[in-house]
Amino acid sequence: MMTAPGRPADPEFEVRRLGPGDLGLLLALQEQVHSALADPSVFQTSTPEFIAYCLADGGRCYGVAHDGETVAYRMVYFPRDRAFNLAKDTALPPSEYHRVGHWDTVAVLPGWRGHGLARLMNARALADMAGTDIRHLFATSAPSNPYAVRTLLDAGFQPIGLVRKFGGRLRFLLYRPSPAGWPATTGETPELTVACSATDALERAFRDGWTGTGIDIDGAGRARLRMRRRPLPFSTGQG
Ligand SMILES: CC(C)(COP(=O)(O)OP(=O)(O)OC[C@H]1O[C@@H](n2cnc3c(N)ncnc32)[C@H](O)[C@@H]1OP(=O)(O)O)[C@@H](O)C(=O)NCCC(=O)NCCS
Repeated sequence: MMTAPGRPADPEFEVRRLGPGDLGLLLALQEQVHSALADPSVFQTSTPEFIAYCLADGGRCYGVAHDGETVAYRMVYFPRDRAFNLAKDTALPPSEYHRVGHWDTVAVLPGWRGHGLARLMNARALADMAGTDIRHLFATSAPSNPYAVRTLLDAGFQPIGLVRKFGGRLRFLLYRPSPAGWPATTGETPELTVACSATDALERAFRDGWTGTGIDIDGAGRARLRMRRRPLPFSTGQG
């Protein structure tokens, strides 16, 4: 079983790769998670066709079982040449689009949150990606969903911009090179902290070359993104 570095594997939880026979399971979990959300706009539901595609060869899906019951899932999607490849919102050269993976939906049943299950599935999926030809991972996450942003940051993703997706909803666009992750920074660089609710200030910072490197969440769930100036770790093809 995969686990985060430095943490013992929890024998209570078992991660497994899901397959085409798990469509009904994922649809039921999706419905359970979505219907229980205080703000359902942070969670984009998927069509049965899209989930079936990811369960077959269009992606990778994982579930976590506890006592034989699946309590969490993560979907990874390979957009290939499809129009909604998130790389199209960046300067990644089109010749790389077929190497893009989307860190798509993640969902943990309400009673099982905070047990590191998102982290567990991220670790397993990242390890599996290393054995594929996928080299660029993109994700989106609502600025108003700080715990989802934090689990992505913990998995090595960094917010690189703001985009509007799913009919105009505001989302961070996050990126992670695979398998190596972002190059380490050398020396201390200045840090900027911006409230996740301050859309204009975030947009300005991303435009000025800052990327998100951490998130601070206070007791009331308010969040501030910590940012540093870092060049994107891919060539724009412009020199
Ligand atoms: C976002 C979500 C997937 C996180 O899953 P999770 O399994 O609870 O996350 P993890 O436990 O792996 O999170 C890592 C850390 O964040 C903490 N954390 C996560 N959610 C938390 C919450 N709601 N309250 C407090 N802490 C939380 C964990 O305790 C853990 O902290 P640690 O690093 O100190 O151990 C889960 O909250 C969820 O299913 N939300 C609803 C669906 C959703 O919004 N999905 C994302 C959009 S697709």
